[in-house]
Amino acid sequence: MSEPVKVGVLGCGLMGSGIAQVCAAAGFPTIVRDTGNEILEKGRTGIQRSLGKLVEKGKIDAAAGAGALDLLTFTTDLAALRNCDIIVEAVTEDLAIKNALWTELDGLCRPTTIFASNTSSLPIGAMAAATSRADRFVGLHFFNPVPLMPLVEVVRAVATSREVFDRAMTFARRLGKEPVAARDRSGFVVNLLLVPYLLDAVRALEHGVASIADLDRGMRLGCGYPMGPLTLLDFVGLDTVVRIADIMFEEYREARYAPPPLLRRMVGAGLQGRKSGRGFYDYATDPPRPIDLGL
Ligand code: CAA
Ligand code: NAD
Repeated sequence: MSEPVKVGVLGCGLMGSGIAQVCAAAGFPTIVRDTGNEILEKGRTGIQRSLGKLVEKGKIDAAAGAGALDLLTFTTDLAALRNCDIIVEAVTEDLAIKNALWTELDGLCRPTTIFASNTSSLPIGAMAAATSRADRFVGLHFFNPVPLMPLVEVVRAVATSREVFDRAMTFARRLGKEPVAARDRSGFVVNLLLVPYLLDAVRALEHGVASIADLDRGMRLGCGYPMGPLTLLDFVGLDTVVRIADIMFEEYREARYAPPPLLRRMVGAGLQGRKSGRGFYDYATDPPRPIDLGL
């Protein structure tokens, strides 16, 4: 990609704020758009804290941390992204919400701008089809927490041009990530395997196999996973996992992708995981305490 590349990021939640951070840390001027100033401020504070941690640990130097913050702009105005060379979308996992944004941006941006979605489970092709630039549309699927996880799945949909796919691979490397090529199938590589595992942990809890703490302890101490599955579900966001599971079940019609009723009930009760303060654990205490779900 010829320099300087101006990056637009849609969404300043868990993923959008992380993606914006790594783009700015790689030296790209980055503009982030969400729907409200409070969300943008929360995202900005999170980025500042994360950069501070990376400086503290000697992963980046203090000047690079400050430089990254200087390269970030936050806005609620979608039209402010019109001059971007690449736009990475990380809004709520909902095709209608994403496509409304893509159609509007298609009219605002230059025909050369690359559109990339961070969707976990939606078809890249179904978003590309909402624009007049299906050849310039790719998947760029990052992992949570974005500043720490090295992987990006780069997804080539049916209509994506080879040139745009190659440029997306190069862009991911410029962010310091390790890209893998994936086909446009719901869940790509990692979620195809990870999501059934996470849903099985909820089913195990529903069936009384073990307590929340013991299910997590089992997988951490028995398999060496950095987080147990219920902690990881809280980390990803239970609302997001229910959306992903619904989409994957719709695609594959296999029971292992069906969201367990308990997960849906928890989201209905406002338990979204770490981002809402409560999920399988209550994050008001340190260490977080398992929630009494009445099981
Ligand atoms: N930025 C900077 N530093 C961060 C950070 C961030 N966003 N998040 C955590 N850290 C820091 C912590 O503050 C901590 O610093 P200290 O050592 O100074 O306390 C350090 O990193 C290590 O963190 P922890 O000690 O809390 O825990 P850890 O060693 O277990 O590492 C982790 C944290 C990397 C998140 C690790 O627990 C892990 O790999 N967890 C699994 C994550 C995972 O599976 N992600 C994929 C989710 S699925 C997905 O993303 C796809 C999808 O579509 C849903
Ligand atoms: P989140 O709920 O933390 O953030 C979503 C953000 O999108 C919110 O801040 C919301 O205000 C914003 N939004 C909604 N409509 C918008 C619009 N019209 N314009 C701009 N912003 C809008 O969710 P998240 O976890 O960051 O997930 C975002 C995307 O990333 C989803 O597609 C999800 O599947 C994917 N993803 C999530 C994870 C994860 O671990 N949470 C990992 C990889 C990919």
